[in-house]
Amino acid sequence: EKAGFDHFMLKEIHEQPRAYRDTMGSRISADGTQVTLNELTTLTPEAIREINRVHIVACGTAYHAGMVGKYIIEKMARIPVEIDVASEYRYRSPIITKDTLVIVVSQSGETADTLAALREAKRCGAHVLAITNVVGSSVAREADDMIVTLAGPEIAVASTKAYTSQLVAFYLFGLHLAQTLGTQTAAEIAETLAALKALPEQVEAILEQAEAIKGVAEEMAKHDNLFFIGRGLDYAVALEGSLKLKEISYIHSEAYAAGELKHGTLALIEEGVPVIALATQHELLEKTVSNIKEVKARGANVLGIAVEGELELQKSVDSTFVIPKTLDVLAPALSVVPLQLLSYYASLARGNDVDKPRNLAKSVTVE
Ligand code: BG6
Repeated sequence: EKAGFDHFMLKEIHEQPRAYRDTMGSRISADGTQVTLNELTTLTPEAIREINRVHIVACGTAYHAGMVGKYIIEKMARIPVEIDVASEYRYRSPIITKDTLVIVVSQSGETADTLAALREAKRCGAHVLAITNVVGSSVAREADDMIVTLAGPEIAVASTKAYTSQLVAFYLFGLHLAQTLGTQTAAEIAETLAALKALPEQVEAILEQAEAIKGVAEEMAKHDNLFFIGRGLDYAVALEGSLKLKEISYIHSEAYAAGELKHGTLALIEEGVPVIALATQHELLEKTVSNIKEVKARGANVLGIAVEGELELQKSVDSTFVIPKTLDVLAPALSVVPLQLLSYYASLARGNDVDKPRNLAKSVTVE
């Protein structure tokens, strides 16, 4: 059932190219110019034009996918997006009107906190869209609309292919909004779709370099503290990379917006502390490099996650893991993969139960 892999997590990491292909599937027109989300029933073009704000609500890894989703929707559709963890959302009296679109993201569709937030949103008259991996789940049944991620069953507690499939769902939905609202040109949409379709093969190329990550992970597993830094979308991925590592390796890590480090946690950077610097966003590269220099000056050992060809960046770090070229907005769909592998191999090196980490459950049905 593990298809020759030692753990479900590793199998699921390797299933991501297939999950990408399936989740995109027939939702991209054959000529590569249009997104067709036929599953949206109540979210008609007229209803979409009425939306004046979006709330994204989720827990754990799904929340981190939502952080990328916020960036995508604001960039592509120019609608303001707020994001909350589900357990906070319902108790902060969120401002919800009938023109609010609430997107709940849940792999299982059974997370109690997320379900409670969904019910609160509906009670206030919002339109609720679910992004879920389980068609018959509670979240799927109670939402007004849903986009199903076709990741397939995810067994390992640490979410991998469900997260990346949620990213794909957000890309498709963002493009669908852009198409409907006219916030992007046909050429921009076609360019993004072409880059999306290239992702599965690019993930395959990353997976072929798993051995390189294994070596780095074994070294990191000797440390008790490490940092992830990044700006913009790289920060969202840093949070997910850090969570993954904590969940299964039990190594403490912090994810910091790279520019914020000097306002606080820089004091914790000392000789030999590993820092994973995500630097895939071209407009922010120069700024990220100066943050890398700040940690290097304090003795950090920096692993850069960089896009192919960025030689300047490579000079500023101790070692680099290179991901294939893509559009900046799509980079999370690639850059998270080496971080998943890093956590996996670090967990293995520490002798942990990778698929069933202590104290965690796959789906938490209590609030
Ligand atoms: C947690 C799981 O309790 O629930 C996480 O341990 C998961 O891995 C989170 O991300 C949310 O789950 P779901 O099913 O709502 O996406």
